[in-house]
Amino acid sequence: MFARVAPRYDLLNSILSLQLHTYWRKQVVRMLQLAPNAHVLDLCTGTGDLAIEIARHIGPGGEVVALDFCEPMLVRGRDKSARRGLNHTFWLVGDALQLPFVDETFDAITVAFGLRNLIDKPCAFTEMARVLKPNGRVAVLELTRPQKAPFRWLYDLYALQILPRIGKRLSVEDAYLYLPMSIQHYEDRATIADYMKRAGFSHVSYRDLTFGVVCVHIGVKP
Ligand SMILES: C[S@@+](CC[C@H](N)C(=O)[O-])C[C@H]1O[C@@H](n2cnc3c(N)ncnc32)[C@H](O)[C@@H]1O
Repeated sequence: MFARVAPRYDLLNSILSLQLHTYWRKQVVRMLQLAPNAHVLDLCTGTGDLAIEIARHIGPGGEVVALDFCEPMLVRGRDKSARRGLNHTFWLVGDALQLPFVDETFDAITVAFGLRNLIDKPCAFTEMARVLKPNGRVAVLELTRPQKAPFRWLYDLYALQILPRIGKRLSVEDAYLYLPMSIQHYEDRATIADYMKRAGFSHVSYRDLTFGVVCVHIGVKP
């Protein structure tokens, strides 16, 4: 499915989020408080917008590894990063549930709009905890349903009625039917926080952005 949506993924992201996705990514980078020499892993990187934002933020003294199991998504990220001259970003095909890194490799790990798709989220957090250095941070940005009533109604109208129609017109129909369904079935905020704590993360917290249309979970490896 991701290989089929890859050619129009960035366009649909911008249209469907009303370009808000760039603001959300900047907020994640800000929350992580990365040092200029940070070694960062972006999981489920897709076309790499978060990896690129991190690479820009930390500058050439740091390093970003962008990992995804879908090569057609990844090559678009690699091309965008090359066009921007970001030579400290490395693009790797791999599975988020079986990370190809030794223990305690990274200072921070990010996942944007990827966790929802992983079949075993507790396993994903265990893998993240394994490859993070002590004091390393994880940040998960994910699409969520707003919790409060008026926003939730408006959101459901948009996500279930309007979004699939735009997806069908501009991209691959089934992918944009899957998208709102996967958001509806995504675990609630407390359950995700619980997975993180069980994987060993401390200082676990979460913050809604844009009326709860997205949520960012943060944790620290002790
Ligand atoms: C909705 S896209 C998000 C892309 C990007 N992070 C963004 O912010 O736009 C989800 C991505 O997760 C990837 N993905 C899903 N399951 C994966 C897994 N087990 N390992 C690695 N990547 C995975 C897909 O290939 C896809 O590129």
